[in-house]
Amino acid sequence: MPTFEEPIVLNTQPLHPGFGLEVMDLDLSSPDSDNAIDALVDELDKHSLILLRNQKLSNERHVEISRRFGPLMTHVLKQFLTTGLPEIYVLSNVSENGKPIGNHKEGWNWHSDLSYVAEPSMGSLLYAVEVPPEGADTLFASMHLAYEGLPADMQNRIRNLRATHSYAGYYGKAFADRAPLTEEQKARTPDVIQPVVRTHPTTGRLSLYVGQDIVKCINDLPETESEALLAELNAHAIKDEFVFRHRWQQGDLILWDNRCTMHCATPYDDNKYRRVMHRTTVAGSRPF
Ligand code: SIN
Repeated sequence: MPTFEEPIVLNTQPLHPGFGLEVMDLDLSSPDSDNAIDALVDELDKHSLILLRNQKLSNERHVEISRRFGPLMTHVLKQFLTTGLPEIYVLSNVSENGKPIGNHKEGWNWHSDLSYVAEPSMGSLLYAVEVPPEGADTLFASMHLAYEGLPADMQNRIRNLRATHSYAGYYGKAFADRAPLTEEQKARTPDVIQPVVRTHPTTGRLSLYVGQDIVKCINDLPETESEALLAELNAHAIKDEFVFRHRWQQGDLILWDNRCTMHCATPYDDNKYRRVMHRTTVAGSRPF
């Protein structure tokens, strides 16, 4: 007699009227959760962002779960891959033995992870190891909602436009007080051209694909027109109705779909508080 596995039923609640799902009562540290991870992969396509609270993940388990979403990417700033597992990129204001254990002030701009490489990340899994009691929220915006919220004439105007994304440009702005990128880092991150409107490869839904600081210009437009359009699209993309603000607790894990969301970290009192976040970044495919 063949046996049939019971379908996984996740206990969930919405985070925002248009996107985002909290999955409750799931302990990802337990191997018993392995079947549920397939369900999370499906839910991510539908909801763009998934929150799980009260997780107790070892670094190894974080990487193992992340691999279920696809192959993992390693960040170009190798000095912040400090856990012993190169798949984990550390974001932190903490130093140990005189050396930062993670990149501080990373992502304090609206962006989609690794949009500056030809095949950007499909999704990221950010795990809160240590969080300040105030500040340091992360904002997430649905780029599906943002695109769908544009007037039809603007949708038509931007539908076939392309933009140049530049890691060097972002790095120069975000980390102007640091040593410049090395030649090797620059060679790994040449400017790339991406569509301004992209299609979700699984669902076919369209989304706006812009970003602050990383997107240098909209191609084939005069400079002033490109600047004005980029400013307009970036301002539209982060309107309140498209944004979910997450107040972190230790043990939170957020998975987001970089193909249809942007996010932005916010400041905190970094003299008073410690923040340690571990991010894995899942490889994606060429946007179209
Ligand atoms: C990121 O941009 O991936 C980091 C977001 C955060 O630290 O809150």
